[in-house]
Amino acid sequence: MSGEFHPNPYLVWQREQGIPIYSGYFVEDLRRLEVGFWRDRNANGAFVNLSNSQVNGAYVLEIPRGEKTHPSRQLFDELAMVIEGQGATSLWYDQTHKRSFEWQEGSVFAIPPNVRHEHYAMGTAAKLVCVTSAPVYMQLFNNSDFIFNNDFRFTDRYAEEENFFAEMIRVLPALGGIETNLIADVRQFFRRENIEAIRSKGNLPKRQRAHDAYSLRIRFAKAMMILHLSGWSVGTYKKAHRHGPGYYIVILDGEGYSLMWEESKKRERIDWHRYSMLVPPMMWFHQHFNVSPNLTRFIAFHPPGLLGSPGWSGEGSDPYLEKGLNQIEYTEEDPDIRALYELELAKRGVTSQMPDEIYKKGIAG
Ligand SMILES: [Fe+2]
Repeated sequence: MSGEFHPNPYLVWQREQGIPIYSGYFVEDLRRLEVGFWRDRNANGAFVNLSNSQVNGAYVLEIPRGEKTHPSRQLFDELAMVIEGQGATSLWYDQTHKRSFEWQEGSVFAIPPNVRHEHYAMGTAAKLVCVTSAPVYMQLFNNSDFIFNNDFRFTDRYAEEENFFAEMIRVLPALGGIETNLIADVRQFFRRENIEAIRSKGNLPKRQRAHDAYSLRIRFAKAMMILHLSGWSVGTYKKAHRHGPGYYIVILDGEGYSLMWEESKKRERIDWHRYSMLVPPMMWFHQHFNVSPNLTRFIAFHPPGLLGSPGWSGEGSDPYLEKGLNQIEYTEEDPDIRALYELELAKRGVTSQMPDEIYKKGIAG
C-alpha cells in the first residue's frame, strides 16, 4: 500500500505479497490450494477472496516441516483454524513475556491485535486457514505501516496472561453463545451432545435453520468478529436465506451441495466436502443440503462488526431466523429444490428425513 488511491487497497497489498490470489464463489479443497512462497511470512501462502467480500478476507498459510514463520503483528482481527498438521504459536509484546501454545488439525484460535506472533510446524508441514478483517482496516487507513507496525497495546484484549490460550468456555448471553480463546479440536468439541449440554447449562436460546440441526456462536479472544458452528442431520437440508457479505464457510465433514441465487435469477450449484470453502454473495439466497450418510458440519467465520446489529442479541426472538423477506420457508420454496434433493439422495442410497408435513405446515424450526 503506497497510500495512493485505489478502490481496493486490500487487493493492492495482496499483489505486493507475491502469492496466488483466488476468487470466485468457492474453493473445492483448501488443503490442495496451490500456494506460493510468501517472503514476509517465511512460509507458503495464498489469498482467498470469495464472492467479492470487501469486509473480510481469507488466506491459507502452509508452514513447511520444522520451519517457523517470521514474527508479524497486525491491527486487524484474525481467526485461524488448523486444517493440516500440528505445531505451535508464540506471542509477545516484548520478548520477556513470550507465551506459547500448541495446536493440531481442528484447533481454532484468534490472534489478538498488535501482538507479535510466529507459528511453528512440528513433524510435518502444517496448514492454517485464516480469516481477517484486513480489508476493512485497509480501506479505512490505507497505510501498511500503521496496520503492521503499530505499537499500541490492546491490553483489554491480551495482557500476557499465562493461560490465555486454554480451552476455557464461558457463556456470553449477549451473544447467545460462548467465548473462549482456543478450541483444541473443533471436530471433538462440536459434538451434538456437548453443544446441547452447553446450550442448556447456559440457558442459550435455540436457533436453527434446518429441520434437525444444532449450532453455536463463539467469540474468540474478544475479537470483533465471531464465528458459528452448524451441524445438520442425515437426509435433511436447511432453509434458503440471505444476508450481508463475508460469511466464510469451511466444511468440517460430510458431503453435500449449496444452491445460491440472486432473487429471480438462475441458481448456481456448488458441490462440497470436507475442507471446501464457500461464501454466498451479498444478499443472494443460499441453501445447504446434506447428501452424505453422516451428519454434516461447518464452521462459518462472520464478517466484522455485526455483534450489535438487530437479531444478534441473545435475548428474546431472533428476527434473523424468522419468516420474512430474507428467508424462504419450506412451505414456500420451489418444489424443484426438494425434487433435486431427493434425486441426489437416491443416487447415494440415502433416505430423506424431511417429513412431508413440513412442506404443508412448516412445522420445523
Ligand atoms: Fe447464510
